[in-house]
This record gives sequence, structure tokens and C-alpha cells, in this order.
Amino acid sequence: MTIKKLIAGNWKMNGGLAANEALLRALLTGVGQPSADVAVCAPAPYLAQVQGLLAGSPIDWGAQDMSAHEQGAYTGEVSAAMLKDFGCRYAIVGHSERRQYHGETDALVAAKAQRALAAGITPIVCVGETLVEREAEQTEAVVKRQLAAVIHAVAHCTSEIVVAYEPVWAIGTGKTATPEQAQQVHAVLRAQLAAATSHPERVRILYGGSMNAANAASLLAQPDIDGGLIGGASLKAPDFLQIVAAAH
Ligand code: 13P
Repeated sequence: MTIKKLIAGNWKMNGGLAANEALLRALLTGVGQPSADVAVCAPAPYLAQVQGLLAGSPIDWGAQDMSAHEQGAYTGEVSAAMLKDFGCRYAIVGHSERRQYHGETDALVAAKAQRALAAGITPIVCVGETLVEREAEQTEAVVKRQLAAVIHAVAHCTSEIVVAYEPVWAIGTGKTATPEQAQQVHAVLRAQLAAATSHPERVRILYGGSMNAANAASLLAQPDIDGGLIGGASLKAPDFLQIVAAAH
């Protein structure tokens, strides 16, 4: 049996009370009974609103980041327990925008993944190479290094994580990896997971980077692409719903 796919929206730093409500109501109206798991990852201040609108629906929700610390004097940070209080099922960790603009290291991302699992939250661990790294034929080495740090930290819980392959050059650029390019990297990640867990087939490996209503079906048809992490297209209900419908 193949695993249930996961289509997760990453709203990034977008939205507001009114826009979120309109988007979520449109998603609730159109989502029906999806064959994939569906989630939206909202900015932290809106998680209560999202919980209020989505609780009891087929759509889950999550955060876009979280602290590696449990609690205490970490001004501005949001803990896993706080996310859990607001019903988050997922937390994205190690998004390339966090790695690039906030200096997040492999070790920090691994600590966040570990902390999420300890709190009963599924970390969506992002990995991906930059254009320079791809051109230097470093893609495999980079994604393997990023995932290895997480596997090392979460050890026997490796089968509980979600991985998202997001080539940095494809994020927000309109340049999608071809299905073949994405599948090639996903296969590498699957093999790495297979060496770390007896149930590599349980780990969903999502593709992210300019995934949209037009290209989703061909990406999701690849054997090792188990869903999508959607940025821009997750802010438009019809587009996001079309991607959800393409995942079965
Ligand atoms: P875009 O879909 O806007 O390229 O963003 C992808 C992404 O970074 C999701 O986390």
C-alpha cells in the first residue's frame, strides 16, 4: 500500500485576520473528502484563528518554525508546547528562508525536529540545494548532509518525520524542478532513510518549489514524491484545492 500523500500550504509571512478567514472558508467549502492529508502552516499569531476555523474539519494546521528550546528566557521564540496548545499537527523546520536569512544550521534544525517530536508534533524537515550548489554538482551531498543531521538527532523516531525537498532555486521563482529532477533527489533521500529506519516507506517526502495547479499532477506521479509543500499557490484557494485534488 502506498502512503497517503500530504499537501501542506506554507503561507509564509502573508495573510491577516480577514484574508485568512476568507481563504480558510473557501478551502473548507471546496475540500470535500480529500484522498490526501491536507494542512496549512500559518504565521504563529494566527494559529488560534486557524484552529477555531479548522477544528473538526479534514484540514490540519501547523506552524512555520518553532524553538529548539523547551521553555524559558528566549524572547520572541515560540515553543513546541505552545504550538501543541493550539492544535498544531505539524511544524516546518529548517525552511531555506530560515537557513538563509536567520542563519539556521543543520544542528539547530535537527534540535528543532527532535523537540517537535518530543511534543507530539510532526516536523516537516526542509532540505534543498542552492543554484550554486546544483551547478557545482553538490545537490546530493547537500541534501544528504542536511537530512543526516536530523536522522542523527531523532534516531529511532526517523520514521515519524516528514521530509520536504525544496531546491532553493525553485522557491518563489516560477522555476520548478522537472519531475525527473525532483524524483532523482527524492530517491536519494529515500535510500538515506532506508539506511536509518526499517520503515522508509512511511516517511513522506514532499516536493516544494513553485508547485502549482498546472504542474502538481506530474510531480505527484513520481514514485518517491509523496506530496507537496506549497508556498505562493497555497494563498489562492482554487489553486491549492486543485493541487489537493491532484494528490491521490
Ligand atoms: P513557492 O511555492 O512559493 O515556490 O514556495 C515554496 C516553499 O518555499 C514552500 O515552503
